[in-house]
Parts: sequence; C-alpha cells; structure tokens
Amino acid sequence: MKTIVANWKMNGGHVLAHALAAASTPSKHKIILCPPLTLLSHTKGVTLGAQDCSAEHKGAYTGDVSAAMLKEAGCEWVILGHSERRQHHQETDALIQRKLDIASASHLGIILCVGESLAEHEAGKAEDIVKKQLSFLPRHLPPTMRHFMIAYEPVWAIGTGLTPTNEQIDTMHQFIKAQVADVKVLYGGSVKPENIQEILAIPSVDGALVGGASIDPSAWKKIVQS
Ligand code: PGA
Repeated sequence: MKTIVANWKMNGGHVLAHALAAASTPSKHKIILCPPLTLLSHTKGVTLGAQDCSAEHKGAYTGDVSAAMLKEAGCEWVILGHSERRQHHQETDALIQRKLDIASASHLGIILCVGESLAEHEAGKAEDIVKKQLSFLPRHLPPTMRHFMIAYEPVWAIGTGLTPTNEQIDTMHQFIKAQVADVKVLYGGSVKPENIQEILAIPSVDGALVGGASIDPSAWKKIVQS
C-alpha cells in the first residue's frame, strides 16, 4: 500500500472540503488530507494532517497553533519543512528540527519535506542540499518516530507542471533511504492524474504529496483511485 497526502495549502472552503473528503474513499492507498486548520472540522471521515505547527509548546505566540492542539483537533499527521514555509517564513533546518521534536512528543506523525531549488538542481547540488536538510536526523530513527515519512519535493517541480524523470526520482529516493534507515519516501511536485501511476510504480517511491491536483475533486478522485 502506498500513501497519498493532499496538501490543500491556503485554499478551499467548507463546500470544497466536503467534496474532497467524499472523493477520498474508496482507495487502495493510505490517504491523508491536510486542509487549512479552519476546515479540519469540515473534513470528515478521513485521516487528517496539518500543514505546519508551532516550534513552541504553548504560551504568548499570537497566531500560532501547537502540535498538541492539532492532535486535539483530530490531526494524526503534520507536514514540516515545506519549501513554501522555508521560503515565505524563513524556516531554517534548526527551527524545523524543533518543530519535529515537539510534534513527535505530541504523538503526531511527521511528513518532513526536503528538496533542492532550480539553481541548486542546475548546479548539480541536489544531493548535497537534501543531505544537509536531513542532517539533524539520526540514521536509525528512534521508536518514538515510528510514524515518520520524508517527502522529496524538488522546489522547481512544485506547481510548475515540471517533474524530474523517473530515474531522477528513483536516484534521489535511494539516496534519501541511504541517509535514513527504513524510512518511507513520498514524491511531491506536479503530481496529477496523468502521472500518478507511473510515479507510484517506481519501487523506491512509497507514495505522493499532492498540491494543486488535490483541490480539484475530479482530479483528486482519479489520483485516489489510481
Ligand atoms: P503541487 O504541490 O502538486 O501543486 O506541485 C506539491 C506541494 O507543494 O506539496
């Protein structure tokens, strides 16, 4: 069974949430929906995740939401280190590590996003960048991090319609699995109904993280049923 995660980003309302939740079953894959926080309670009958969490446990952090609060609101998973968080909120690996520690202490499963920019890709530095983004992880994950996945999302493939070749995806997934033992690795970046099957057919790909196509009910249904 592979895992398909929907990252709605800052999109949708309760009508769309209802339609997307309904389109998420049945599936032979494990499906996780990550709506904006305001739509969690409208996204019913599915496994839920959040798109981020605070790096603090609680206190005077206006606008932030803690991992424990997400858990209480029904989330089983949280996406951390998405490139849009790294880019628009200046999130560093150190901050992401803090969030990861807090999220696992709150018993949330973690989907850690890594991936190189276009300039880094063109300079042949993709593996160096990904290795650095993974450097705070031990080679063998502790039992407290049993629910942990890495999403390889080349920044240049996100929302662009561009995707790496199957061979490039496989090479990077093997590289990631050589850094972290027994980890599941999802691919993300312009996944759509037209390419989901061939991407999931790559043996080193344990699933997919889907952005744009996850907020279009008919495209999402095709992905879920792939
Ligand atoms: P995309 O986004 O599928 O729209 O490329 C993926 C992501 O950002 O997780």
